[in-house]
Amino acid sequence: MVEAARHRVNEERTFACGASVRDPATVPARPSRRRTLDRALARSGACSRSEAQAAIAAGRVTVNGRVVRDPMHWLDPQVDRIGLDGEPVRARPKVVWMLHKPTGHLTTRSDERGRETVYALMTDAPGWLGPVGRLDKDTSGLLLFTNDTDLADAITSPRSRLEKRYEVACTTPLADAQLDQLRRGVELDDGPTLPARVRRLGAAGDDRTCIEIVITEGRNRQVRRMVAAVGSEVSALHRSAIGPLQLGGLAEGAARELTAAELDALHAALGSAAFRHPGRASGRARSRGSGDRPSR
Ligand code: URA
Repeated sequence: MVEAARHRVNEERTFACGASVRDPATVPARPSRRRTLDRALARSGACSRSEAQAAIAAGRVTVNGRVVRDPMHWLDPQVDRIGLDGEPVRARPKVVWMLHKPTGHLTTRSDERGRETVYALMTDAPGWLGPVGRLDKDTSGLLLFTNDTDLADAITSPRSRLEKRYEVACTTPLADAQLDQLRRGVELDDGPTLPARVRRLGAAGDDRTCIEIVITEGRNRQVRRMVAAVGSEVSALHRSAIGPLQLGGLAEGAARELTAAELDALHAALGSAAFRHPGRASGRARSRGSGDRPSR
């Protein structure tokens, strides 16, 4: 609500300062394509929303040729011309990549301590792509990157119920009762976890330290904390799938763009889940190539 009020104040300020001051009674409802400068910049696929805010604050962004330092400046991306570092910003095609993340890499753009980040492995990707959620430094496996911020939101939203599958090695054998606890949900300091699917790994299921956990949330260090909550500790963690997406034969450390079939499967999984994007009539995320993607 505070955010909404702030938007309204800024919208009024923009109208008050700009050329388009009109009698509010005669102003038609704001067309939905209007959005704030930071959103418009991020939605173009040029950078993340936080990077957009930093660029705006630094005076690197223009609207119709004039520097604008207010990220809440309202504009119409189809009419107003945004510039970044003197170059016109044009909407980029939305792309999704997958990385087979090895352990030891941080899921961050840059690290002040100079540690290796996942971006060292994403050198072939086009332009700016942001990670969809995070994997811990010591976790390996499937990590998605995209410049489609709405798709990223849909994938990470707990409301989407999109399944994330993990292979987990624990430091101690887990009893059936501990697996049942994980299945029912455990109490974490940020609230109880949703029910999970849990099974033993290994041909005969006789290695009682290795399990598969399928969760539909994506909280910080969730699997590690769930295992700790039932009295053990994770010694190795690997994400093997996100919804219908799997690493397949992708080598550790390698990255590639999703195929059209994978994108369709992802959108279908999101559309058939309980996810409904706020303000969107259909719950289905847009498919690649859509000209009017919803904003983050
Ligand atoms: N759960 C964790 O604990 N760590 C990850 O990296 C992903 C899920």
